Amino acid sequence: MADQLLSTVSRKLRSLPASYVRPESQRPRLHEVISDAAIPTVDLGSPDQHQIVAQIADACTHYGFFQVVNHGVGNKSMRLMMEVAQEFFQLPAEEKAKLYSDDPAKKIRLSTSFNIRKETVRNWRDYLRLHCYPLEDFTPEWPSNPEVVSDYCKEVRGLGFRLLGLISLSLGLEEEYMVKVLGEQEQHMAINYYPKCPAPDLTYGLQAHTDPNALTILLQDHTVDGLQIRKDDKWIAVGSHPHSFIINIGDQLQALSNGRYKSVWHRAIVNANKDRMSVASFLCPSNRVLISPPEKLLSEAGRAMYKNYTYEEYYDRFWSRNLDDEHCLELFK
Ligand code: SIN
Ligand code: FE2
Repeated sequence: MADQLLSTVSRKLRSLPASYVRPESQRPRLHEVISDAAIPTVDLGSPDQHQIVAQIADACTHYGFFQVVNHGVGNKSMRLMMEVAQEFFQLPAEEKAKLYSDDPAKKIRLSTSFNIRKETVRNWRDYLRLHCYPLEDFTPEWPSNPEVVSDYCKEVRGLGFRLLGLISLSLGLEEEYMVKVLGEQEQHMAINYYPKCPAPDLTYGLQAHTDPNALTILLQDHTVDGLQIRKDDKWIAVGSHPHSFIINIGDQLQALSNGRYKSVWHRAIVNANKDRMSVASFLCPSNRVLISPPEKLLSEAGRAMYKNYTYEEYYDRFWSRNLDDEHCLELFK
């Protein structure tokens, strides 16, 4: 229901409502988070392509995450996208109510938490989720400043395709491999708003999950940290630098690399004093694409790690579970 949006009601709440409080064993244990580790940074502006490819191979194998700088997306485009995102959540409640829906099948919708039809405990988050490819199909539905969002989406798609090329090379495949195999790729976006929270140690902005898509490109407000990733059985906090993106491998690249690259658990925590925004862009295979690793990677590993499946099957399965159940790829072994 639209009247449950945190962007509308959270300022009036002095304590965390019980519906957001995690059981003791599932709380974020913020004092145990490693705050001084860093994920690898890849300079995409470097003239040394071999080095870029080697850094990506290392990051995808050991972290599942990396940060990119000099990535070709304009600073202005990034700044405007963040501004539009912030303005959207400041709209009057009646305006936001028009876009509110809990139906994950809708192509543009504003909602809260993650999947409130299934969850027992809520996440301290509102989000606007929209499909953004092909752009012409969705532009008319965008709530405000469609040209800013549209320019941003095009630039991010270009960056995503370049990264898929580098990831293919890093697996010893031809540069076009992943882009070809993923088909006419869909592109989705989640604009996340995490208002300041009365009790960040009891709840999450987004609980631990892996991303079901192929590749995620995350723009975040670099003044407020919140993203944490799982590495060596510990949570590490991921800082962010201005003009950078955080990239992560989704479940489909884990499957297509036959398990060599990792779609890593991550989560967003919330802050007591500051609101936080992030804009996640997801590249996804077309629904009918059969997810099946190339022969070369199968023979190198000596076996297939997962069964073949279509992306549609995977996505249905993903949304039918709780977000922090076992890794969804485990169901395809
Ligand atoms: C996400 O994992 O989709 C969002 C993470 C974030 O807001 O940093
Ligand atoms: Fe995610």
